[in-house]
Amino acid sequence: MQKRRLGSSGMEVSALGLGCMGMSFGYGPAKDEQEMVSLIRAAIELGVTFFDTAEVYGPFTNEELLGKAFSPFRKQVVIATKFGWHIENGKQAGLNSRPEHIKAVADASLKRLNTDVVDLFYQHRVDPNVPIEEVAGAVKELIQAGKVRHFGLSEAGVQTIRRAHAVQPVTALQSEYSLWWREPEAEIIPALEELGVGFVPFSPLGKGYLTGKIDESTPFDPNDFRNTVPRFTPEARKANRALVDLLGSIAERKGATPAQIALAWLLAQKPWIVPIPGTTKRHRLEENVAAASVPLTEGDLRDIESAASRIKVQGHRYSESAQRMIDR
Ligand SMILES: NC(=O)c1ccc[n+]([C@@H]2O[C@H](COP(=O)([O-])OP(=O)(O)OC[C@H]3O[C@@H](n4cnc5c(N)ncnc54)[C@H](OP(=O)(O)O)[C@@H]3O)[C@@H](O)[C@H]2O)c1
Repeated sequence: MQKRRLGSSGMEVSALGLGCMGMSFGYGPAKDEQEMVSLIRAAIELGVTFFDTAEVYGPFTNEELLGKAFSPFRKQVVIATKFGWHIENGKQAGLNSRPEHIKAVADASLKRLNTDVVDLFYQHRVDPNVPIEEVAGAVKELIQAGKVRHFGLSEAGVQTIRRAHAVQPVTALQSEYSLWWREPEAEIIPALEELGVGFVPFSPLGKGYLTGKIDESTPFDPNDFRNTVPRFTPEARKANRALVDLLGSIAERKGATPAQIALAWLLAQKPWIVPIPGTTKRHRLEENVAAASVPLTEGDLRDIESAASRIKVQGHRYSESAQRMIDR
């Protein structure tokens, strides 16, 4: 697969990464560990070098899974993980980005990931109780100690990114971005371009919706977090069908799939954008990886833009409590 650089950091990764969250967390029960180890190794064979996890996925089990999968392949891959939660009795219990906590999490993550350095260490959510300068300072010290290579933020607003970047250059912002969540285009993407910060869109397939494989009657496991997302009520799924139909019509003329068009559209936005689609299935991994070879022409992009601009997406992307964690 082609490689991309995340902003001006020089950090080189495959044009598409692999989001590993759903293997352990978020979308129903954790998947079989051995199968997921094989899936991750298949991704490496297909040229994926960029893998996304977090302390809180599980919690902890997703990092452990990556630690197992990478043991013979550590030098070939770039591992991104995240800190920033207080975890109590195996549950997220608020935010915690106090410097001493960040350092303790780094040590614990290194152990679980079975490595001596985390390539990219993101703050998962901005902690309103800890000035971002202190967070950046803690990560800077981890970089100086050789435990971390690069600093990242997730769902941070422009002012937070600028303040953090002034203390420790930010290599990448990881925030939601896709054809059905385009808010980053207004202020975030121009600021990232100005600062030379790379962009890693999470949920690039709209948490599965943009692939066309989910309709209003698709059942979710009771533990699937999409049950709490207003954009996934049966009414919203029905109302948002126009977006999937648009992707389907472009896919048909390109001999591709809707998922591939959703990913190719993101790749076409900027050369320093690296989406991290998540899947737990080998055939979908292959389909998603192949999206890096689906070129969209100026005409395709114009058609997508003009059709998308006429579609008003229904439903918030997060529940109210999850939305309160977003820095703006
Ligand atoms: N920073 C943050 O706050 C944050 C938040 C959310 C996610 N993330 C990261 O971003 C990664 C990706 O986001 P995401 O998993 O939320 O959403 P996503 O990548 O947009 O979608 C994943 C969903 O789509 C399905 N899927 C994947 N490829 C498909 C295909 N070709 N056809 C049909 N269905 C397909 C998957 O199901 P199957 O497994 O059944 O294929 C899964 O349910 C996560 O793994 C995580 O690492 C970060």
